[in-house]
Amino acid sequence: MPLLALENGLARTPPMGWNSWNKFGCNVSETLIRGVADQMISSGMKDAGYQYVVIDDCWQVGRDAQGNIQIDTANFPTGMKALADYIHSKGLKFGLYSDAGTKTCQGRPGGRGYEYQDARQYAAWGVDYLKYDWCSHSTQNSEASYATMSDALKVSGRPIVFALCEWGSTKPWLWARDTGNLWRSTGDIGDRWDSNKPHESLGVVQIIDQQVGLESYAGPGHWNDPDMLEVGNGGMTNTEYRAHFSMWCLLAAPLLAGNDLRSMSAETKEILTNKEVIAVDQDALGIEGRRVRKIGDTEVWSRQLADGSRAVVLLNRGAAEQPVQAMWTDLGYPEHASAMVRDLWAHRDLGKSTGSFSTTVPSHGVVMVRVSP
Ligand code: GLA
Repeated sequence: MPLLALENGLARTPPMGWNSWNKFGCNVSETLIRGVADQMISSGMKDAGYQYVVIDDCWQVGRDAQGNIQIDTANFPTGMKALADYIHSKGLKFGLYSDAGTKTCQGRPGGRGYEYQDARQYAAWGVDYLKYDWCSHSTQNSEASYATMSDALKVSGRPIVFALCEWGSTKPWLWARDTGNLWRSTGDIGDRWDSNKPHESLGVVQIIDQQVGLESYAGPGHWNDPDMLEVGNGGMTNTEYRAHFSMWCLLAAPLLAGNDLRSMSAETKEILTNKEVIAVDQDALGIEGRRVRKIGDTEVWSRQLADGSRAVVLLNRGAAEQPVQAMWTDLGYPEHASAMVRDLWAHRDLGKSTGSFSTTVPSHGVVMVRVSP
């Protein structure tokens, strides 16, 4: 049977925004969210394309006798409608988090059995984006559980981006295209480059490895989600954060910043708002990039763009700087072609190359270029 995409008209390019979880965990409040919304404007994040302001876990505390979801009024005294109105007044969009099981991952009430009631409530508040987690799902079937909420959102009366968060555990890339606009493809990211400990959240390189082979499942309206950004949270170097950000853009990943926008360094801001790199993420063709070569701990990744050019990431996972070569034949170009090469971090044309492009790449870093024949 041919796959039917969800086709709710949303997320034609990967969603961009901010989410509270990576930096703030359960410490969410309307003061924080309003402050972040203000910073989305003043920092230039909105101009760079960031749109959704998403409250992750811990905004909800219970249900009333009629089953209506109750918000934490101590931290959200003016309520979700007022907060959504504020965010909308800034030209931004508003997102919330819930869970397909009985409880969220922090033990707050989940959506199981309340899908239509919650969807109506979210629409009434002005929610534009729903992240739906997978804790406390007991013996629930993932495909059916997410389909129920997807159907509920469809009749809620408001277009709502549906972000599945079942951590890749039941291969959502095989079925979630009918259900959601994006689906997590891995477990939780940690603010680290590499992780060898099984009980730790994943490092950037572990997540990258888990994307190999998923490319063909992504496209406009339905994206693989390798989890939210850690850029600016302090656990990696700026070289590593540039590599993290470059790879997410090459992978057509949703770009949900996860740092404190109110106290962001100039370097962090420069990474998150690099318009040439973001243009790769947001390319209209919507074809996810793929790894085209791996030699030891150096890799070449390539993404076809709408104008026929290629975005290319030369990645060095090793402990010392190394030369890396991108061959035109790996990018789908003839060897004799002459192509313009532009460095997307240096914002500089590097001139024409024939057959390949080689450069030295720093340890745990990337060089990201656009190759235009
Ligand atoms: C899960 C998700 C995270 C975050 C937390 C919140 O771990 O994968 O992204 O939403 O729950 O509790």
